[in-house]
Amino acid sequence: MPGFEVIGAEEQAEINDIFARGGVLFRHGFDAMRNGSYKVRDFEAAFATYMGVPHALAVTSGTAALRVALAVLDLQPGDEVITQSFTFVATAEAIIESRAVPVCCEIDGTLNMDPADLERRITPRTRAVIAVHMLGTPARLREIATVCKRHDVVLIEDAAWGCGGSLDGRALGTWGRMGTFSFDFAKTMTTGEGGMIVFHDRSDYERAAAWHDHGHENNPKVPRWEDTRSGSGFNYRMTELQGAVGLAQLRKLDEVVGRQRTNFAAMWNAISDLRGVTPREVPAGSVETADALVFEVADSATARRCRDALVAAGMSTKILPEAVTWHFAGTWTHMSELVASHGNLATAFPRSAERLARCVSLPVVVKMAPDVPQRLRAALQSVL
Ligand SMILES: Cc1ncc(COP(=O)(O)O)c(C=O)c1O
Repeated sequence: MPGFEVIGAEEQAEINDIFARGGVLFRHGFDAMRNGSYKVRDFEAAFATYMGVPHALAVTSGTAALRVALAVLDLQPGDEVITQSFTFVATAEAIIESRAVPVCCEIDGTLNMDPADLERRITPRTRAVIAVHMLGTPARLREIATVCKRHDVVLIEDAAWGCGGSLDGRALGTWGRMGTFSFDFAKTMTTGEGGMIVFHDRSDYERAAAWHDHGHENNPKVPRWEDTRSGSGFNYRMTELQGAVGLAQLRKLDEVVGRQRTNFAAMWNAISDLRGVTPREVPAGSVETADALVFEVADSATARRCRDALVAAGMSTKILPEAVTWHFAGTWTHMSELVASHGNLATAFPRSAERLARCVSLPVVVKMAPDVPQRLRAALQSVL
């Protein structure tokens, strides 16, 4: 889970450096005042290098990252964008904000997009697919990318939970045409609020950079107030303060993911032999961020009893089974656009609903107390 556990002197030093060099908090301009301090620009460059892509654009949140990525596609009314039924509301909200038609598909044993169901839902109006790496486990990107290619549909990865993970040695977020990240306070690396988009294609990057900045093309030949523009946009610019924190957090990312993976393994070893516990499916070649340890039990009543036992023992679950309403499209009756696409949401994703109701998700932290695996086992043993 959290970069917030390791926030400290390094982040503070980066912030202090801004003030020591003139206190410019805006990413553009003020060159004479800032004494070479360009935190957002440096953060973008470091992030792109880490991910092994040519371009990265910092924005104000993971939700903004999705919205800006979709703006690159110039979606027209009636165009459809497909995502998975198990994701955070933000993924669907970004599609709706883009004036596209939101469509969701079923998940499989990975709890991510089921490639076969994705293919069934593609129509001539489908323009893009947003695959999500929920709770840090890679989606079946090989199969999903093949489906997208076959139907000439753009693949975007919502890697809000995937930062620092990989599949087949390739960073999550870099498999699609664009990948989006969240740096909100619960993510593997955090800037408080914040996000990033990564690109392979320079023209996609330029379009996104302009759109997230009111259409500013940042033409070096003219001052900013005379800047050229080709279309309107919005303001999703990251501040220098966030960029500074991001620089320090990025340097800690491998350590955070590494420790989460170690703690995940210790937790799983403590409970894997309990009767009725089935692990989440993980695609071969995955390096998970290990944000959460998810397993299936026999039925939803057992999943609830697991949660109650964990809470009674002073521990908690994460999203599953208790907070699924923010993360399962089958409950989003407040989204009229989704209801228009699917009709009765309660029956729209039966396989996902059945599986999610049986899942238990445990938070994995960086600084885990040594007795957690054994306490976890004792709590779950009382139910299973
Ligand atoms: C899958 C997914 N996408 C997008 C977001 C949105 O990120 P943010 O909170 O930075 O807007 C989240 C946030 O938790 C998420 O879980």
